[in-house]
Amino acid sequence: MATHAGGLSTGTSAVRVRDLHRSFNKAGGVLNGLDLDIARGEFVALIGRSGSGKSTLLRAMAGLDRDVAGHGSVRVPRQVSVVFQDSRLLPWRRVLENVTFGMRGRAAAEKGRQALAEVGLEGRERAWPHELSGGEQQRAALARSLVREPELLLADEPFGALDALTRIRMHVLLRRLCEAHRPAVLLVTHDVDEAIVLADRVIVLDDGVVRSDIRIDLTGRRSQADPRFAALRTRLLAELGVEDDHDTSLAETYGKKAAS
Ligand SMILES: Nc1ncnc2c1ncn2[C@@H]1O[C@H](COP(=O)(O)OP(=O)(O)OP(=O)(O)O)[C@@H](O)[C@H]1O
Ligand SMILES: [Mg+2]
Repeated sequence: MATHAGGLSTGTSAVRVRDLHRSFNKAGGVLNGLDLDIARGEFVALIGRSGSGKSTLLRAMAGLDRDVAGHGSVRVPRQVSVVFQDSRLLPWRRVLENVTFGMRGRAAAEKGRQALAEVGLEGRERAWPHELSGGEQQRAALARSLVREPELLLADEPFGALDALTRIRMHVLLRRLCEAHRPAVLLVTHDVDEAIVLADRVIVLDDGVVRSDIRIDLTGRRSQADPRFAALRTRLLAELGVEDDHDTSLAETYGKKAAS
């Protein structure tokens, strides 16, 4: 079994994955000797076609997959938080209790309140999860992950179920939270625009390895109107084997937003 170790704290590195293998049957591997490094505070977006192994990698990094085989190793920091496409809030606990679930000490409730305020959910502490909208539930999930002050945030399509405008608000929020808390981030997304807007680096998973590793060197506000944005978009879509026809709804929304 591959080794999985928390508590990596050497130098500037937050994540070090070496030679990671995972297969579910004899037909072939999903992860085939994957290497990945993420620096402290670095925001990495992970893209790849459906079934390429993105969630498999994330689960291995989160320590949720005990059957990862091979001689490989996964080194991550001690404090790791995970956010999924659905909020996974416990329906029988109020929002604040969800955020602080498992935390001990008198300061927990106060920290939870602060985290909820940071994601714009002040005053909703006593609400039940079903009383929140989808976007609000995801914000509560973000608060739950950040209240633990993670050194690594793993997010598997956290905004995938949200409408385009709510997504844009979540992008702004996530960037602000990351600037404030500086966790290393691995964000799985299907959306190349989301990757370019948020990440310092975009990696492309293909055939069970990191096929491409592309630095996003846009400074300041990242606008689709910037020709460098468009060039990156075309390149990433090409990596995914898709032609850039400027026709995705999110791209249009960003375009309109930039124009207005
Ligand atoms: N528990 C499992 N048992 C058997 N096969 C699995 C299991 N988990 C994942 N797989 C297979 O591994 C491959 C990669 O799955 P994974 O969920 O990592 O893909 P993904 O890149 O996250 O895809 P998507 O973009 O659709 O979410 C798929 O072929 C999937 O069927
Ligand atoms: Mg997945």
